[in-house]
Amino acid sequence: MILLTADMISHSFDYELFSDISLNVKQGEKIAITGESGSGKSSLLHILSSLLTPVSGRVEILHKDIALLKRGELDNLRCRDIGIIFQSHYLFKGFSALENIEVAAILSGQNIDDELLKKLKIFNIINKKISDISGGQQQRVSIARVLSKKPKIIFADEPTGNLDANTAKEIMDIFDDYVTSQEAALVVVTHDMSIANSCHKIFHLEDKKLNRVR
Ligand SMILES: Nc1ncnc2c1ncn2[C@@H]1O[C@H](COP(=O)(O)OP(=O)(O)O)[C@@H](O)[C@H]1O
Ligand SMILES: [Mg+2]
Repeated sequence: MILLTADMISHSFDYELFSDISLNVKQGEKIAITGESGSGKSSLLHILSSLLTPVSGRVEILHKDIALLKRGELDNLRCRDIGIIFQSHYLFKGFSALENIEVAAILSGQNIDDELLKKLKIFNIINKKISDISGGQQQRVSIARVLSKKPKIIFADEPTGNLDANTAKEIMDIFDDYVTSQEAALVVVTHDMSIANSCHKIFHLEDKKLNRVR
């Protein structure tokens, strides 16, 4: 089943960023998007994940055209079905790691899985404030926060950017298990080719177009 459809997406800020980008993402699929810094990867991810409205084109998530959803319907979709891991985490700094994860879990009606926290190596720092843990630990908390929601489709913007190669590989294995066991999908922006190569398909954003390279 197709979880995400992007049809002829174009976007501009003060200049045209990209045009006529189309993409389908199926259940169980992991998709990597690569491209040089400034090519528009984050903007594209924000459009695909409903956060940014494109200048033209259509995005369907779980077969719903997000431009046609009412506010409450869009809130529900974002709360339960879409998981976004941002380049700059957006954790609540004054709260503990656990509190940050709880907010997402409670809003989507899920329980927090201790095994996940252990796999992400944050079980031992779970009561520490975000401001008192490292950048790599913050990144893993933001991954735990998203996976605890049990979303159908995960969008991740450079999720392993602050992590060493071993931890990055472990994170990809966790995504892999998640996508398979939950019949979900992952769209990951990365410049790390070992991460890209662990995905089913790789797309490269260049010269305003998204080209499949593998
Ligand atoms: N909200 C915005 N307003 C104006 N320009 C923006 C905005 N967001 C991004 N840009 C510009 O769009 C280009 C692509 O940005 P981005 O999508 O973050 O690329 P990438 O993630 O590939 O580095 C950059 O030149 C950036 O400055
Ligand atoms: Mg970016």
